[in-house]
Amino acid sequence: MLASGRGTNLQAILDAEAEGLVARGSVEVVVSDREDSGALVRARQRGVRAVHVPPVPKAEGGKRAHEARLVEAIEAEGPVDLVVLAGFMRILTPWFVARYTGRLINIHPALLPAFPGADGQGDALGYGVKVTGCTTHFVDEEVDAGPIVLQAAVPVHEDDDRDALAGRILRLEHQLLPRTVELFCQDRLALDGRHVRIRPGDSWHGRVERVPEALYPDGF
Ligand code: GRF
Repeated sequence: MLASGRGTNLQAILDAEAEGLVARGSVEVVVSDREDSGALVRARQRGVRAVHVPPVPKAEGGKRAHEARLVEAIEAEGPVDLVVLAGFMRILTPWFVARYTGRLINIHPALLPAFPGADGQGDALGYGVKVTGCTTHFVDEEVDAGPIVLQAAVPVHEDDDRDALAGRILRLEHQLLPRTVELFCQDRLALDGRHVRIRPGDSWHGRVERVPEALYPDGF
């Protein structure tokens, strides 16, 4: 798992593992470009390998050298089945993306293709949309653009500020990302061009508390 920030999405996956909701896989390593990332702290607290891989100055190889070190950290104990981006704030090169094609997923705090980029929540609020949400998707070479796995929606309320809206979306992220991981680990995601077909199987409805007012996707 790659993360730059607080690591609450990582925490959600670890908690879902502990509760048996994510049953077919486990987080093997958390890698961050930031030493102060909460994600590294949360990983260490759970006994998960946590590695800080600082950005590499241009003169020493820059982004490409950094990504080579990320790969080394990710694969130090052997090949991985799935790489999850959860608030990893660096744009990955086609070289990195190609290495993990079909096994690289991201969570984005907006209903893609609306509001890609670093502030999906603030951009949605600023635009004046009445509904927004979050998206999990396979990563391709374009930013926030690969095939969509799951999306869930929540209303934007008249008195929302960015924090209130981001908090509502985050509660959904904490359900959608672990669910996406479990679907991948159950081998239920079939890529068909831009479409991700979800093969029949179990559901988390009734197993997790619904986020009020949320609209959940098929496959949840
Ligand atoms: C989430 O909102 C995620 O969608 C975005 O960055 C945030 C990461 O939060 N890309 P956290 O570090 O998991 O708490």
